[in-house]
Amino acid sequence: MRQLALIALLPLLLVACADEQEAKTPQPDVNAGKALAKAHCAGCHGLDGRGTAPGIPHLAAQVDAYLYQSLVAYREGKRTHAALRDMTKELSTKEIHDVVAFYSSLPPLEAQMDKKAITLSPYERGKAASKACARCHGGDGNATEPGMPSLAGQQPLYFVSALQAYLHGTRNIETMETELRGMNRVEMENLALYYASQTPVRRGKPTVGDPEAGEPLTARCGGCHGAHGVSHDVTTPTLAGQDAQYLVSAIKAYRDQTRVHDIMLDDNTDQEIADIAAFYATQESKAAHVGPITVQELSAKCDRCHAPGIENPAMAIPKIHGQDRDYLIRALRAYHDGKRGSSLMHNMSLPYSEAIIESVASLYANQDAK
Ligand code: HEC
Ligand code: HEC
Ligand code: HEC
Ligand code: HEC
Repeated sequence: MRQLALIALLPLLLVACADEQEAKTPQPDVNAGKALAKAHCAGCHGLDGRGTAPGIPHLAAQVDAYLYQSLVAYREGKRTHAALRDMTKELSTKEIHDVVAFYSSLPPLEAQMDKKAITLSPYERGKAASKACARCHGGDGNATEPGMPSLAGQQPLYFVSALQAYLHGTRNIETMETELRGMNRVEMENLALYYASQTPVRRGKPTVGDPEAGEPLTARCGGCHGAHGVSHDVTTPTLAGQDAQYLVSAIKAYRDQTRVHDIMLDDNTDQEIADIAAFYATQESKAAHVGPITVQELSAKCDRCHAPGIENPAMAIPKIHGQDRDYLIRALRAYHDGKRGSSLMHNMSLPYSEAIIESVASLYANQDAK
């Protein structure tokens, strides 16, 4: 009985071995791969390996080990895409090797975007956009008119949430609402990153209150706003160096609930508020974030792995020069949000805002594939 079972199993075992061998030493057939591509892939990836619509990656000249790894990741559900999962399930390992050999053997594509186009960093875009704000907030975000808030050095996520509050009317200030009409998230982040990098100017004597009387009253503020009002949390505003009259009106706005925030309740008297404001206004502040100024600086750390010609035997690194811009944005967002499983790329993209992702993607998309 046992022998019989073994004999019956033998052919299966042999087939399994052959399959395994095939996986180890594939003999890719570029022509068979081309036929497969024509039948199953060309509608989206072209026969020249160019994605046929924005958001579809180019495959021409891509690193073969990376292409193979991606297709297996779709098949195993580690990378999620419904169409590719179903398709790759129907392909044998040999067929995957063939189609990979075909696409990786194609010559690199010419960049379709304007090669002379200069990709600006969020900082540079923010700087250009800040011209519209300078008349009130000062050229570099250091406001001088009493009652007008400085923006220099402010925490970037707080900055964006403040803009959104004006835009959506939860901070009911008509001037700011008019200034911001039509602005999108990326444009807000550009401005936030520019202002966060500016150096706040130290203020002289405050226009209201007594700093020395104010200091002891700030004991319960420092846990969130930082020692002496220099915040280290991207969502909490820096108060140091802020205009004193603006601080007074902001604190009163929370107290009177014209500006609503669940953690910013205040029970101080008007005099105490003026003293607190005087204390913070006279503290020395600093830039919240000194980021790279140009997009070339931003991408320097990416080029450590992605620069043409760099090979790393420990990992299959995809080529990203000349890749489709929309696809690059999607891929970087997916890593950022943890939806695409590469802990390395997740960590790389974690500090990246939407504005940075868009400018880095544009930079790579605009370059010739190598
Ligand atoms: C219906 C359109 C469509 C078809 C058909 C299609 N793909 Fe794709 N392919 C896509 C899209 C969209 C993506 C990006 C998915 C994502 O974000 O993960 C993709 C991603 C890929 C990737 C990952 C590339 C990278 O840079 O990470 C590979 C490899 C790939 N496809 C190969 C193939 C092959 C081989 C075939 C044919 C057997 C095929 N695709 C058929 C649309 C298609
Ligand atoms: C006409 C004058 C004016 C212009 C122009 C202007 N602002 Fe303002 N901005 C104000 C005033 C006044 C306030 C304070 C409103 C309040 O009390 O909430 C303010 C508040 C802000 C705040 C909140 C500061 C904080 O600490 O919470 C931000 C951020 C801001 N502005 C950004 C901008 C940006 C970015 C631009 C340019 C696109 C701009 N502003 C243009 C007058 C202006
Ligand atoms: C639990 C954390 C926390 C504590 C404690 C706290 N704050 Fe705040 N504060 C915040 C946050 C978060 C914001 C931003 C709220 C918003 O978006 O309107 C804020 C906003 C402010 C603003 C507006 C700044 C601007 O640029 O418009 C002022 C002024 C302020 N706080 C003063 C104080 C003072 C004074 C105290 C102590 C009496 C204090 N805060 C205690 C978290 C805190
Ligand atoms: C230490 C090496 C390393 C560094 C540094 C690095 N990457 Fe990557 N990158 C990889 C590897 C490995 C993969 C493939 C991961 C996978 O399989 O999903 C990858 C994948 C990608 C992809 C997906 C490409 C595709 O075809 O789907 C993009 C886009 C990308 N990286 C952009 C960047 C950017 C932008 C930076 C700089 C912020 C960066 N990388 C830094 C190694 C690196």
